[in-house]
Amino acid sequence: MSKILLTGGFGYIGSHTASLLSEKNVDFLIYDNFSTSKYSVLERLEKTIGKKINYVDADIKDTERLIEVFSKNNINSVIHFAALKSVRESIIDPIKYYEINVGGTLSLIRAMKKTNIKKLLFSSSATIYGDPEYLPIDENHPLRAINPYGQTKLIVERILRDLVMAEKDWSITSLRYFNPIGAHPLGLIGDDPLRGKTENLMPSIIEVYKGIKPNLEVFGNDYDTKDGTGVRDYIHIMDLAEAHVMSLDYLMGCDGLNIFNIGTGKGITVLELINTFEKVTNSKLPIIIKKRRSGDVAYCYADPSKAKNTLKWKTKRDLNEMCLSAYNFSIMNE
Ligand code: NAD
Ligand code: WQD
Repeated sequence: MSKILLTGGFGYIGSHTASLLSEKNVDFLIYDNFSTSKYSVLERLEKTIGKKINYVDADIKDTERLIEVFSKNNINSVIHFAALKSVRESIIDPIKYYEINVGGTLSLIRAMKKTNIKKLLFSSSATIYGDPEYLPIDENHPLRAINPYGQTKLIVERILRDLVMAEKDWSITSLRYFNPIGAHPLGLIGDDPLRGKTENLMPSIIEVYKGIKPNLEVFGNDYDTKDGTGVRDYIHIMDLAEAHVMSLDYLMGCDGLNIFNIGTGKGITVLELINTFEKVTNSKLPIIIKKRRSGDVAYCYADPSKAKNTLKWKTKRDLNEMCLSAYNFSIMNE
């Protein structure tokens, strides 16, 4: 039976996608160097899906290793999650980001070409829309990266566009994720950044809830939004994982480069997310208002109608479920 290779499959989005693939009896092999995920994810993911996982502990920059893995396993497609994703770190060490996110993807493409595997699902990001010119953001919105991390995603999309123009036998799908939060319903896998690496809102909420951080810093309450705080399109990680499963079916019957926004279409403010978390957990978080975080935009939310119409995918889980599942994961993994 043919398999799917998941680069970065032990990460936040990869592990949830793996759990769904397993549920659907789709065979996969994980290729991950554990650089930003914990070794314990392996055991927790195995418990979640109730079986052993085939994996290779290696770097996507290692083209020879990829070729060997492709040659020895019956792989027909790749979901490419592996990348570094910290905006903050990408500004401090941009070259590392270009090497892994761009160089690593080139290495993967070289290995795929060599072994004649031409089906690729790529993890892109809404960050490449920059400060939106109109809302909601559709796939035709102009692209403008505002930090090195965003640049790497934009460059890879450009590379993929040029690749399918030059070589007609590729089928590539790029999913532009908005803001995934929440966790698997069993609570064994979730968003689990390495200590000291937290910069996104939900992991910060969890750290404050658990007392790891004394206060939740709200970056700016003077935006032109309904309560002055930033608006984002938070999407449940299981809905995002489902988008991958549905994109795989589409990938098999298509060619060229196809791009989809993966979001709910709903804008939520920072304070609305915090209030929902407090409501579902019956808690009160100590908040301090700080100045705006450099590089942040006021609004970012999707027009997801292309994915709805073409992939027949839609979100099923609401903000309460996002917050409750994130909380549940946090208390099960203390
Ligand atoms: P993550 O950090 O949780 O997972 C990334 C995984 O890739 C980790 O398991 C890590 O060990 C692995 N990895 C990193 N460098 C590697 C290398 N050189 N070789 C092999 N494995 C390597 O990140 P995530 O949140 O699961 O993100 C997955 C993808 O989605 C990334 O490409 C990210 O840029 C993109 N993305 C994430 C978000 C988000 O908010 N989480 C939003 C938009 C796009
Ligand atoms: C959300 C909102 C913050 C933390 C980032 C990347 C993007 C994508 C998703 C990968 C903003 C506010 C945050 C905190 C706060 N990742 N905030 N206090 O910035 O929309 O997107 O993650 O591709 O590329 O840029 O997500 O969760 O960091 O912030 O007030 O402690 O929460 O200002 O308004 P963001 P985020």
